[in-house]
Amino acid sequence: MEKTIKKAKSLKGKLRVPSDKSISHRAIILSSLANGTSIVKNFLKAGDTLTTVDVYRKMEIQIDEDQGLFFVHGRGLDGLKEPDDVLYMGNSGTTTRLTLGVIAGQKIFATLTGDDSLRKRPMKRVLSPLKMMGAHVDGREKGEYLPIAIRGGNLRGIEFFNERASAQVKSALLLAGLTASRKTTVIEPVMSRDHTERMLKSMGAQIKTEFDEGGYRVHILGGKELNAIDIDVPADPSSAAFFAAGAVLVKNSEILLEEVLINPTRDGFFRKLKEMGANIEYINQREQAGEPVADILVKYSPDLKGVTVEKQEIPSMIDELPLLALVATQAEGETVIKDAKELRVKESDRIKSVVENLRAIGVEVEELEDGMIIKGKQNIKGGIIDSFKDHRIAMGFSILGLISEEGITIKDAECATISYPNFYDDLEKLANW
Ligand code: S3P
Repeated sequence: MEKTIKKAKSLKGKLRVPSDKSISHRAIILSSLANGTSIVKNFLKAGDTLTTVDVYRKMEIQIDEDQGLFFVHGRGLDGLKEPDDVLYMGNSGTTTRLTLGVIAGQKIFATLTGDDSLRKRPMKRVLSPLKMMGAHVDGREKGEYLPIAIRGGNLRGIEFFNERASAQVKSALLLAGLTASRKTTVIEPVMSRDHTERMLKSMGAQIKTEFDEGGYRVHILGGKELNAIDIDVPADPSSAAFFAAGAVLVKNSEILLEEVLINPTRDGFFRKLKEMGANIEYINQREQAGEPVADILVKYSPDLKGVTVEKQEIPSMIDELPLLALVATQAEGETVIKDAKELRVKESDRIKSVVENLRAIGVEVEELEDGMIIKGKQNIKGGIIDSFKDHRIAMGFSILGLISEEGITIKDAECATISYPNFYDDLEKLANW
């Protein structure tokens, strides 16, 4: 499906964007390993998270939906049943990497595969440490790519330095650590999103987190059973980011984004927009399900300044960097994004996706191996862009369409459903044309 987004007069109104994708995945996965029934309120029903539901059902976890609530009937730390067919992980890196960690600690065999994009994404980063813990794993190209076969086993804890600050790798190892002998430790130079740690703590796991000169450390002791919990999932800051960017860029805009997760490992994009001079305010800050949330008020911000994204800021805005690059085209001066090589192995090569598409709509940008340099105050002519079937590229360029002269047409625009099924409807509700 192609979608054309034209210049808008303003964005106005209130919006509760869909629930957080990272927390929704973890709510299903961790509850599957608990004893008893967990209730998940405001579960994100989108492509990736429904893949997780499907995969855990294939391992005989009963998951029921009733009146908007998801009931996950956990079977304990090693209660998953061997699936009788290949597990299909769709487009979801989070489902794949976390589930590899889970299966490593079960006495089962499974094979995993995924769509064209997922089969190109690196998996050795999880397979290597899981092997060190004692799991039997192999995959295409010496274990780098799906399809992957895994046989779980008796695991032993390891100490692992998570150099890329990947939350998926950290989470996989903590989940494997739940059944391992002794202690599993993950050390990060910069703390990545910590939803797994927070949820495991609330379920009664023996988990400890600390900071020192070397960065952030998490320790988990195996063998401690998990309690079922009730989880109310807040709105996803990565989805809210698109409309925040829209309100900042489109004249006369004012929007209120409700109940958004503002965990400091996730809200780097909003902090960076503020640093650029955007009119953004957190109001009514509160706690929900062990996570900080707020309503975010965003207004049109004509005086944006270019910024440099520092290495230690990257994990907290990793999924929003493409969007930040698009906003930067309207700021005064240059914006520099470096040390972000990980963008090349997301749902698409997001450096290439941004650079090629910006050029296609008449915008200048310099490509770096690990990022890009964006010149500010550029006119957006418009034209056709390729989403590369990457949800965040489709949504980001839709937002840029709102300030384009001739409109932006997005190829394969329906991929937004991976994280945000009603994105175009919500855009229609807020926009005045
Ligand atoms: C995620 C972690 C990040 C992020 C992804 C979701 C998670 O990936 O980009 O969208 O839920 O743990 P990495 O772990 O590869 O950095």
